[in-house]
Amino acid sequence: MNELDEAHKRVLGLQLPTDPRWVNMAEMDLTEILTDHAYCEQKAATSCITLIQQYPEKVEMVEELAPIVTEEWGHFRLVLAEMKKRNLILGRQRKDEYVNALMKFQKKDGAWEDRLVEKLLVFALIEARSCERFRLLSLHISDEELKDFYYKFMVAEAAHYKLFIKLAKKYSSEEKVAKRWKEYLDFEEKMLKTLEVRGDRMH
Ligand SMILES: [Fe+2]
Ligand SMILES: [Fe+2]
Repeated sequence: MNELDEAHKRVLGLQLPTDPRWVNMAEMDLTEILTDHAYCEQKAATSCITLIQQYPEKVEMVEELAPIVTEEWGHFRLVLAEMKKRNLILGRQRKDEYVNALMKFQKKDGAWEDRLVEKLLVFALIEARSCERFRLLSLHISDEELKDFYYKFMVAEAAHYKLFIKLAKKYSSEEKVAKRWKEYLDFEEKMLKTLEVRGDRMH
């Protein structure tokens, strides 16, 4: 096992590896998967903007997230550029069943600060799963350029995952975050098993 594999197991903690057929399904139609990917990046940027709007008093978080907005928007632009290079046109945004299910699991009745922690953990989980999928693409997609393309995304999203967990701990406690994170991981494992494996979805 190489260092990154090791890091992946240790850091991300995801309990269900992605179905190995997914990469083959995804590469059958690059317009579809790149479109879905592009919107994931766009949603990541808008989610960070929303957090800043909702919690401006969290000074450290605002400082940390402001550059992430730029970075995620940069990711969106990279996907667009990749599509243009391949003469592909961005499609319409789709229903994101994975994210919708996580949103439903989120506790929405706590104090304002508890709700922030819930949001940070959901974002951490989305980053972790995206990172796992990007890794699979970087290893197994047959297009050599896309292997490199996805390697870079994998590294970037792993850093975001870490940041969201760090912020959650800052506004809660190590113990509470560990407990709730485990609940999220358990939920995600079960939920993912109920979703159809689709080549036109990043999640
Ligand atoms: Fe991103
Ligand atoms: Fe990200």
